[in-house]
Amino acid sequence: MEKIVVPLRGANQIQAMFNAVAPHYDFLNRLLSAGYDRRWRKLAVNEFESVASKTFLDVATGTADIALEMASRQPAPHKIIGMDFSQSMLELGNKKVSGQDIKLIPGSAENIPLKDKIFDGVVTAFGVRNFSDAEQGLREMHRVLKPKGKIVVLEFSFPQNGLLQWFYRFYFENILPLTGRIISGHKNAYSYLPASVANFPKGNEFKKMLEESGFHNVSYKQLTFGIVTLYTGLKNV
Ligand SMILES: C[S@@+](CC[C@H](N)C(=O)[O-])C[C@H]1O[C@@H](n2cnc3c(N)ncnc32)[C@H](O)[C@@H]1O
Repeated sequence: MEKIVVPLRGANQIQAMFNAVAPHYDFLNRLLSAGYDRRWRKLAVNEFESVASKTFLDVATGTADIALEMASRQPAPHKIIGMDFSQSMLELGNKKVSGQDIKLIPGSAENIPLKDKIFDGVVTAFGVRNFSDAEQGLREMHRVLKPKGKIVVLEFSFPQNGLLQWFYRFYFENILPLTGRIISGHKNAYSYLPASVANFPKGNEFKKMLEESGFHNVSYKQLTFGIVTLYTGLKNV
């Protein structure tokens, strides 16, 4: 696969990091989330209600778990495209989607290599926090949606309950990075994870970001005590 050129500073490091952790990514996802990641993706896809005959884009698809979840629904969607800027993630994703009606393409979220107004739904799971320019990524997702199309975003957050938050953050900021480092062999990737979550807008702040990117009817709900937040929004007619 040819090298995917990323337009923004900082993006190259993120791209290199995901290329490096790709071989262990799925295993660590299941382990570190105790299998909850699958449930979070199912709930994200449920937000589209009927997927039948619709077209979807999974931005920052990684190893294509969201795209696969969509493809498993009956009646099936018309078209599913997964896009990511990590070649290694896409290579693993391509093995997983083999034989399924899913197309994986290389591309950067800040400059989606697709036409305007072609998707009924766009989704990004644990992706937007990593974009070099999250607002630009959201504007691009808005651009490729058809009028009345829906965006669904899954992103990490923190439990609101003080005691629960303390225990969770202890796990997330100490045990998770250590386990991730030992298994993936990557020095920083699993320390980058809690740091990137801590620094990224959550709840109303991210809702505002979606609204400023053109979405309306934006709402969100917390999943699993607030470890993850599921955001939805619509594009105007
Ligand atoms: C934490 S993984 C999430 C993957 C997948 N959505 C999932 O649910 O497992 C983040 C993914 O975002 C991709 N990514 C990060 N920034 C990106 C960008 N600016 N453009 C395209 N992909 C990006 C990474 O390569 C990586 O595959």
